[in-house]
Formats: sequence, structure tokens, C-alpha cells
Amino acid sequence: MNEWSPTSWKAKPAAQQPAYPCEAEAARMVEEISKLPPLVTSWEVNALRGQLAEAVRGERFLLQGGDCAESFDQCDSATVANKLKILLQMSLVLTHGGRRRVIRLGRFAGQYAKPRSDDSETRNGITLPSYRGDLINRPEFTEAARTPDPQLMLRGYERAALTLNFIRALVSRGFVDPHRLEYWDLAWVKQSPMAEEYRRMARQIGESLRFMENVLGVHPGELNWVDFFTSHEGLHLPYEQAQTRRVPRQEGWFNLSTHFPWIGMRTADPAGAHVEYFRGIRNPIGVKVGPDMPPSTLRELVEILDPAGEPGRLTLIHRFGAERIALCLPPLIEAVRSTDKPVLWCCDPMHGNACTTSGGYKTRRFEDILGELDRAFDIHAALGSSLGGVHIELTGEDVAECVGGARGVSEADLKRAYKSQLDPRLNYEQALEMALFIARKMGGLSEQM
Ligand code: PEP
Ligand code: CO
Repeated sequence: MNEWSPTSWKAKPAAQQPAYPCEAEAARMVEEISKLPPLVTSWEVNALRGQLAEAVRGERFLLQGGDCAESFDQCDSATVANKLKILLQMSLVLTHGGRRRVIRLGRFAGQYAKPRSDDSETRNGITLPSYRGDLINRPEFTEAARTPDPQLMLRGYERAALTLNFIRALVSRGFVDPHRLEYWDLAWVKQSPMAEEYRRMARQIGESLRFMENVLGVHPGELNWVDFFTSHEGLHLPYEQAQTRRVPRQEGWFNLSTHFPWIGMRTADPAGAHVEYFRGIRNPIGVKVGPDMPPSTLRELVEILDPAGEPGRLTLIHRFGAERIALCLPPLIEAVRSTDKPVLWCCDPMHGNACTTSGGYKTRRFEDILGELDRAFDIHAALGSSLGGVHIELTGEDVAECVGGARGVSEADLKRAYKSQLDPRLNYEQALEMALFIARKMGGLSEQM
């Protein structure tokens, strides 16, 4: 294989990249970002790789979640704090109920670039470039908004830094103290059908903590409650390249814009630019695996991206849809097994289950989402493999975007509280319900709980 460098991807076909009106300006922006301080450190990146290796061994469970796309407008304290809260609540349920330590990996602090099926969009006879995420252009349907603007790369880097700064501050003091579980409560949790179950669990955790401290002399600060990592789709290669650097006393190159970048389904071509870029970085990485991926291609990807067979390096995030998983997943598990590489398997039960309502809303049925997840656990177990994580789109806000769940979000509700610019997300109740479902599936909760 040819020599790798942070720019060697440029010699390969790069899908899903914006066409900037002025390439020189885009290059200047990349240059500027490459001089700014990193958003994360190599120690954190290595720590995450270590935790993912533990997940491969069945000692941890990966919880990866956040918006489909973050937006610059929603870089505000409530949105960020609520997302942390729901991820914390879910991880609490999984740790306590599923009896496994949880890796909390946000789809945040940089999830600003989106792959699109079509390069352009036509409305009333006018055709403009598709919206590709706030890192690239803006959603309004005007020529000015839709023209890719290189300045947005810098704005995105700054927004990611602001978001991460706030997350780090919240996580380092008070907010995640398990003695203060009430801080994690979202304002509307009181009305939730799941509230009683969650509260009961929180009470039990409080009692266990007191027991550990008073009787065993262990302090929760020592229990690693508070690790939070960031991830985003590494789609926009010039942006990813800008923060790719060497670090003193460490081997290799790190992408320091995030702990965990992943390759999307549409850019996972083994001969393409994304795979070329990703093969050279030291970060733990993910690859989305969809229904059209032949087993031989997956085998090739695993060999290219994890030649050393390093546990924690590679997470395969499969997303087929509830209907297709039973057909698609088994041959891919076998293909990976034949490589003898220790990948972590993670289920994204969102992206294969999209449908459109008669009212024109893009939605997902909660029963399909849980159905795919349910089958994912069973299929892995039946084949002697193991599902080690879940990848979901969620928000801490009280939105109505996915239909179904304990409160029975209906198609009519979508009209009232559909806020996503792109894919429909689980609201906090649906997210909590999913966590309870996973905990049950992992065998730690009784049916009645
Ligand atoms: C996504 O995660 O938002 C996404 C576009 O997923 P996929 O690449 O699996 O379609
Ligand atoms: Co999405």
C-alpha cells in the first residue's frame, strides 16, 4: 500500500465533498484551522481506544448518541446540557440495569457535515445545491445560503470548541456527581410513564453509593463515572485533515478534532478517499455498514483499516432496518470472523428504519427501532458474536419526530413538535425507554421493572 499522509486522500475519488466557488479560500481556511489548538488530546483518544478494547471483551457497552446534525443555532446551554442529561440517564440505566460499564460517546462537538443522496434540490422549478450541514452551507432555500462557504469550517471548529468547553465544565464539577441524580432530571421527566421506574433505579443507586462509601470506603470520584467522549462523521476531508497532526512522544498521526470519527455508509468505498484518510490516523474509528455492503467488501475494509488487529481500533456500526437485519447481518459477521480481527459490533437502529408519513414527515417507528435492536442482540448471540454497543439519534428536548413509544407519539403529534432539519430523533422519553429495553435485553432487569 502506498505511503500515507494527511493529504494522501486527495489522490483518490472523494465522495460527498462540497464544490467551493473559491478553492483558494477553502485552502486558506484549512491552513488557519490547522494552526489552532486541538479540541481533544491524544491521551483522551488513547483512553477511549482502551475502553473500546474493554467493550470488545464484553466488559463495557458503547452508548453513542446525539443529533443527526448539530446546528450552529442550537449551540446553546440548554440544548447541550439536555443532551448530556439524557445520555447520562441512559448510561445510568445501562450500568445499573445492564451490569456493564458504559462508554459515553456523544455525536456532538463537531457533527456538522451531512452526506446527501442528491447533490441538488429543486423547489418550484428552482434548483440549488443540497444542504450539507452547517459546516458547509445553510439550510435556507436561497442561492446565498446554499452556496458552500469555506468560512463555515472555521465557524464549525469554533462551535465545536464552545460545545466541548461547556461539556468539559459540566462534567468536571457537580453536574455528573451521582449523589446529585436530581441534577440530571429533565424538567418534563415528572410526567413520563417511565418516571417511576427511573426514580426507583436512581434511589437504589443512591443507596448503593452510600453503602460503598460508608461500608467499603470507595468514593465515586474514583469510579470513572464521568468520562465523556466526542464523535462525528468524518465526512468533510479538508476539515478532518486540518486537525490531523503528530503529537510529541507518540507514534503516528491523530485527528484531534474529535476522539472518534466514523466513516458514513455512503463513503465507505475501500478504494475511496475517506478510507484512505482513515487508515492513517491513530484514533479509534467507526464504519457504518449498510444493507448493500457485500461481505467481501467488509473483509477488505477491516484489513485496510485495522491491519494490526488492535482491539478498540475498529467499531462496525450496522444499520439495515428491522426487516432486513436477519438477512444482512449473518454473512457479515462470518466475513469479519474470517479476518480474525477483534472488531466491536454496534447497532444503529435508526438509519435503516426511515419512512415518510402521509403528511410528508420523515419519521421512524419506535417499534421498528426496538425491533432491529432486539434482533441485533439475538443474531449476534446465536452466531457466537456479541453486540457491544448502540448508536442512536436523540435529543434531550421534548420533540415528536419518531412515532410510537410508551407515550404513543402519533403522526398528528409530529406537526406540533418536529424540529429536526434532517433525520428524526428519539425524544428523551423514547431514549430512556430504549435504555430500559437494552438493560432488560442484557439480562440485568426483570420484566416488571
Ligand atoms: C448518520 O449517521 O446521520 C448517517 C447519515 O448515517 P449513514 O451513514 O449510516 O446513512
Ligand atoms: Co442521521
